[in-house]
Amino acid sequence: MITKKQVEESAAYLRSRLPYLPEVGLVLGSGLGPLAEQLQDPVIISYAEIPHFRISTAPDHAGRLVCGVLAGRRVACMQGRLHGYEGYAPDEIAYPVYVMRALGVRALILTNASGGINTGFSVGDFMLIEDQINLTGKSPLTGPNDDQLGTRFPDMTFAYAPALRDKAQAAADACGLTLRRGVYCGVNGPQFETPAEIRAFRTLGADAVGMSTVFEVIAAAHCGLPVVAIAMITNMAAGVLMQPLSGAEVNEIAVQRGTDFRRLIWALVEKI
Ligand code: HPA
Repeated sequence: MITKKQVEESAAYLRSRLPYLPEVGLVLGSGLGPLAEQLQDPVIISYAEIPHFRISTAPDHAGRLVCGVLAGRRVACMQGRLHGYEGYAPDEIAYPVYVMRALGVRALILTNASGGINTGFSVGDFMLIEDQINLTGKSPLTGPNDDQLGTRFPDMTFAYAPALRDKAQAAADACGLTLRRGVYCGVNGPQFETPAEIRAFRTLGADAVGMSTVFEVIAAAHCGLPVVAIAMITNMAAGVLMQPLSGAEVNEIAVQRGTDFRRLIWALVEKI
């Protein structure tokens, strides 16, 4: 269970370290980590220094909060996030979202790498997430609820804020990039899915699948923080192309498409 008291302690520590407070929160998924290096006047704070933060074990996830100015906005970037497959509980994964909210950010931008389920998609596409299907079977809100953080039964209808989706589309247009749209299906991993699972997810209405994001979005809905999320399609999901998947392939595409992804996020931050 996450409490308002813990969140306030984390936020108070960050306020003491930061020269100014962030307006926009960013969670940098695969391929976007280098965006944090583009911040002006960066203040870098390792998760290990922040009270109540957990540290990521994923080797390619830096595990630090980088605050600074991007596209004229004061941003707080999570360079590295926690995943369920690392063994973290959903509330540990979602915790930083509440801290972002307590710091006063007015929007949270989430990014991730995903497998494409929609056969109209191609590797390297960007997908604006319009809605999600949480297939992890878990929630960060399980257990007692601290009413000071949010209501017991939060509404998820507008969890992906429509106004921010419009801004993401305008950012893509300004960059000359095509933005696909669809439903993100969140799974625990770490194994990739079977072809039968992917067929089942397609029948359920999913367009892309990944191992992150859903808990962060639930937490944001809980504490009233507007979210916009963009997935990079790093591979077609299992069975779509009848070829084996590998984590290396996912990382390779994430690096290859990283420049355009960073341009898109930059343009989006500018519009928030
Ligand atoms: N499945 C689940 N998670 C992923 C995938 C995938 O195909 N690609 C990138 N993250």
